[in-house]
Amino acid sequence: MGETTAEIARAHPEADFIAVEVHGPGVGSLLNRIHKESIQNLRVVRHDAVEVLERMFDDGSLAAIHLFFPDPWPKKRHHKRRLVQPAFVELLARKLKAKGLVHAATDWPEYAHHIDAVFTGNIDFEKAESGFAKKPATKFESRGVKLGHPIRELCFRRRGNAPAAR
Ligand SMILES: C[S@@+](CC[C@H](N)C(=O)[O-])C[C@H]1O[C@@H](n2cnc3c(N)ncnc32)[C@H](O)[C@@H]1O
Repeated sequence: MGETTAEIARAHPEADFIAVEVHGPGVGSLLNRIHKESIQNLRVVRHDAVEVLERMFDDGSLAAIHLFFPDPWPKKRHHKRRLVQPAFVELLARKLKAKGLVHAATDWPEYAHHIDAVFTGNIDFEKAESGFAKKPATKFESRGVKLGHPIRELCFRRRGNAPAAR
Protein backbone atom coordinates (compact mmCIF):
# COMPACT_ATOMS: atom_id res chain seq x y z
CA MET A 1 0.00 0.00 0.00
CA GLY A 2 2.98 2.32 -0.47
CA GLU A 3 4.38 2.48 3.09
CA THR A 4 7.81 1.21 2.07
CA THR A 5 7.93 3.36 -1.06
CA ALA A 6 7.13 6.48 0.97
CA GLU A 7 9.72 5.53 3.58
CA ILE A 8 12.44 5.00 0.95
CA ALA A 9 11.63 8.32 -0.74
CA ARG A 10 11.77 10.15 2.61
CA ALA A 11 15.11 8.50 3.44
CA HIS A 12 16.61 9.63 0.09
CA PRO A 13 15.65 13.28 -0.47
CA GLU A 14 18.57 13.53 -2.93
CA ALA A 15 16.80 11.19 -5.39
CA ASP A 16 13.50 11.29 -7.29
CA PHE A 17 11.24 8.22 -7.30
CA ILE A 18 8.49 7.00 -9.59
CA ALA A 19 6.27 4.22 -8.22
CA VAL A 20 4.40 2.08 -10.75
CA GLU A 21 1.38 -0.03 -9.78
CA VAL A 22 -1.92 -1.02 -11.40
CA HIS A 23 -3.77 -1.79 -8.14
CA GLY A 24 -6.09 1.21 -7.54
CA PRO A 25 -6.31 1.06 -3.70
CA GLY A 26 -2.51 0.85 -3.46
CA VAL A 27 -2.11 3.86 -5.76
CA GLY A 28 -4.75 5.82 -3.78
CA SER A 29 -3.16 4.98 -0.45
CA LEU A 30 0.26 6.13 -1.65
CA LEU A 31 -1.16 9.36 -3.12
CA ASN A 32 -2.80 10.08 0.26
CA ARG A 33 0.48 9.48 2.04
CA ILE A 34 2.35 11.78 -0.36
CA HIS A 35 -0.23 14.50 0.26
CA LYS A 36 -0.40 14.11 4.07
CA GLU A 37 3.35 13.85 4.52
CA SER A 38 4.21 16.46 1.84
CA ILE A 39 6.64 14.10 0.13
CA GLN A 40 8.24 16.09 -2.69
CA ASN A 41 10.36 13.50 -4.50
CA LEU A 42 7.83 10.75 -5.26
CA ARG A 43 5.39 10.40 -8.14
CA VAL A 44 2.97 7.56 -8.90
CA VAL A 45 1.93 6.11 -12.25
CA ARG A 46 -1.08 3.80 -12.41
CA HIS A 47 -0.24 1.76 -15.49
CA ASP A 48 1.49 -1.38 -16.70
CA ALA A 49 5.13 -1.23 -15.61
CA VAL A 50 6.47 -2.65 -18.89
CA GLU A 51 4.78 0.03 -21.00
CA VAL A 52 5.78 2.73 -18.52
CA LEU A 53 9.42 1.67 -18.80
CA GLU A 54 9.26 1.41 -22.58
CA ARG A 55 7.53 4.74 -23.22
CA MET A 56 8.13 7.14 -20.34
CA PHE A 57 11.88 6.94 -19.81
CA ASP A 58 14.85 7.62 -22.03
CA ASP A 59 17.40 4.87 -22.45
CA GLY A 60 20.23 5.13 -19.92
CA SER A 61 18.20 7.44 -17.66
CA LEU A 62 17.46 5.48 -14.43
CA ALA A 63 19.83 5.18 -11.45
CA ALA A 64 18.05 2.20 -9.89
CA ILE A 65 15.00 -0.03 -10.18
CA HIS A 66 13.21 -1.79 -7.30
CA LEU A 67 11.18 -4.92 -7.91
CA PHE A 68 9.69 -5.73 -4.54
CA PHE A 69 7.66 -8.94 -4.36
CA PRO A 70 6.60 -9.23 -8.01
CA ASP A 71 3.71 -11.72 -8.37
CA PRO A 72 5.30 -15.21 -8.24
CA TRP A 73 2.71 -17.00 -10.43
CA PRO A 74 3.57 -20.31 -8.71
CA LYS A 75 1.85 -22.69 -11.17
CA LYS A 76 4.18 -23.84 -13.94
CA ARG A 77 1.64 -23.11 -16.67
CA HIS A 78 1.50 -19.46 -15.45
CA HIS A 79 5.26 -18.87 -15.32
CA LYS A 80 5.08 -17.00 -18.62
CA ARG A 81 3.08 -14.29 -16.83
CA ARG A 82 5.98 -13.49 -14.51
CA LEU A 83 7.37 -9.99 -14.87
CA VAL A 84 11.01 -11.10 -14.77
CA GLN A 85 11.75 -12.64 -18.17
CA PRO A 86 14.80 -12.25 -20.45
CA ALA A 87 13.11 -9.55 -22.58
CA PHE A 88 12.11 -7.57 -19.45
CA VAL A 89 15.65 -7.75 -18.08
CA GLU A 90 16.97 -6.49 -21.46
CA LEU A 91 14.54 -3.57 -21.13
CA LEU A 92 15.84 -2.80 -17.61
CA ALA A 93 19.43 -2.87 -18.90
CA ARG A 94 18.49 -0.40 -21.64
CA LYS A 95 16.81 2.05 -19.26
CA LEU A 96 19.48 2.00 -16.54
CA LYS A 97 22.50 4.29 -16.39
CA ALA A 98 25.95 2.67 -16.35
CA LYS A 99 26.43 1.12 -12.87
CA GLY A 100 22.67 1.46 -12.26
CA LEU A 101 21.24 -0.96 -9.70
CA VAL A 102 18.39 -3.45 -9.63
CA HIS A 103 17.10 -4.63 -6.23
CA ALA A 104 14.57 -7.47 -6.31
CA ALA A 105 12.91 -9.21 -3.36
CA THR A 106 10.67 -12.27 -3.26
CA ASP A 107 9.31 -14.72 -0.67
CA TRP A 108 9.00 -17.45 -3.31
CA PRO A 109 12.26 -19.49 -3.41
CA GLU A 110 11.75 -20.89 -6.89
CA TYR A 111 11.07 -17.38 -8.28
CA ALA A 112 14.27 -16.21 -6.57
CA HIS A 113 16.19 -18.88 -8.53
CA HIS A 114 14.45 -17.82 -11.70
CA ILE A 115 15.25 -14.12 -11.13
CA ASP A 116 18.87 -15.00 -10.38
CA ALA A 117 19.14 -17.14 -13.52
CA VAL A 118 17.59 -14.52 -15.82
CA PHE A 119 19.84 -11.66 -14.58
CA THR A 120 22.94 -13.90 -14.52
CA GLY A 121 22.15 -14.88 -18.10
CA ASN A 122 22.19 -11.24 -19.24
CA ILE A 123 25.68 -10.02 -20.16
CA ASP A 124 24.85 -6.44 -19.11
CA PHE A 125 24.41 -7.33 -15.42
CA GLU A 126 26.74 -8.42 -12.65
CA LYS A 127 25.87 -9.29 -9.04
CA ALA A 128 25.97 -6.44 -6.52
CA GLU A 129 26.33 -6.59 -2.74
CA SER A 130 23.38 -4.33 -2.04
CA GLY A 131 20.83 -2.14 -3.77
CA PHE A 132 20.22 1.60 -3.73
CA ALA A 133 17.87 1.61 -0.75
CA LYS A 134 17.43 -0.53 2.31
CA LYS A 135 15.69 -3.88 2.57
CA PRO A 136 12.01 -3.78 1.65
CA ALA A 137 9.66 -4.43 4.58
CA THR A 138 6.27 -4.71 2.90
CA LYS A 139 3.30 -6.79 4.01
CA PHE A 140 4.47 -9.41 1.52
CA GLU A 141 7.63 -9.75 3.54
CA SER A 142 5.63 -10.29 6.76
CA ARG A 143 3.41 -12.80 4.95
CA GLY A 144 6.47 -14.70 3.72
CA VAL A 145 7.97 -14.79 7.20
CA LYS A 146 4.63 -16.01 8.71
CA LEU A 147 4.42 -18.80 6.12
CA GLY A 148 8.02 -19.77 6.87
CA HIS A 149 9.20 -18.64 3.41
CA PRO A 150 12.65 -17.13 3.48
CA ILE A 151 12.86 -13.67 1.91
CA ARG A 152 15.45 -13.53 -0.84
CA GLU A 153 16.90 -10.24 -1.93
CA LEU A 154 18.82 -10.11 -5.19
CA CYS A 155 20.88 -7.12 -6.31
CA PHE A 156 22.50 -6.57 -9.68
CA ARG A 157 24.53 -3.76 -11.22
CA ARG A 158 24.47 -2.72 -14.83
CA ARG A 159 27.97 -3.17 -16.21
CA GLY A 160 30.05 -0.71 -18.18
CA ASN A 161 28.63 1.90 -20.46
CA ALA A 162 24.89 2.30 -20.59
CA PRO A 163 23.29 3.00 -23.99
CA ALA A 164 23.39 6.63 -25.06
CA ALA A 165 20.19 8.45 -24.03
CA ARG A 166 17.78 8.84 -26.95
C1 LIG B 1 2.69 -9.37 -4.61
S1 LIG B 1 2.22 -7.72 -4.94
C2 LIG B 1 3.57 -6.76 -4.26
C3 LIG B 1 3.21 -5.32 -4.06
C4 LIG B 1 4.32 -4.40 -3.51
N1 LIG B 1 5.42 -4.28 -4.47
C5 LIG B 1 4.83 -4.85 -2.16
O1 LIG B 1 5.98 -5.30 -2.06
O2 LIG B 1 4.06 -4.75 -1.19
C6 LIG B 1 2.52 -7.60 -6.68
C7 LIG B 1 1.97 -6.31 -7.25
O3 LIG B 1 2.42 -6.14 -8.58
C8 LIG B 1 1.42 -5.44 -9.30
N2 LIG B 1 1.69 -5.68 -10.73
C9 LIG B 1 1.77 -6.89 -11.33
N3 LIG B 1 2.07 -6.75 -12.65
C10 LIG B 1 2.21 -5.41 -12.85
C11 LIG B 1 2.53 -4.62 -14.00
N4 LIG B 1 2.78 -5.20 -15.19
N5 LIG B 1 2.57 -3.28 -13.87
C12 LIG B 1 2.33 -2.70 -12.66
N6 LIG B 1 2.02 -3.40 -11.55
C13 LIG B 1 1.96 -4.73 -11.63
C14 LIG B 1 0.12 -6.02 -8.79
O4 LIG B 1 -0.96 -5.11 -8.97
C15 LIG B 1 0.45 -6.26 -7.30
O5 LIG B 1 0.00 -5.19 -6.50
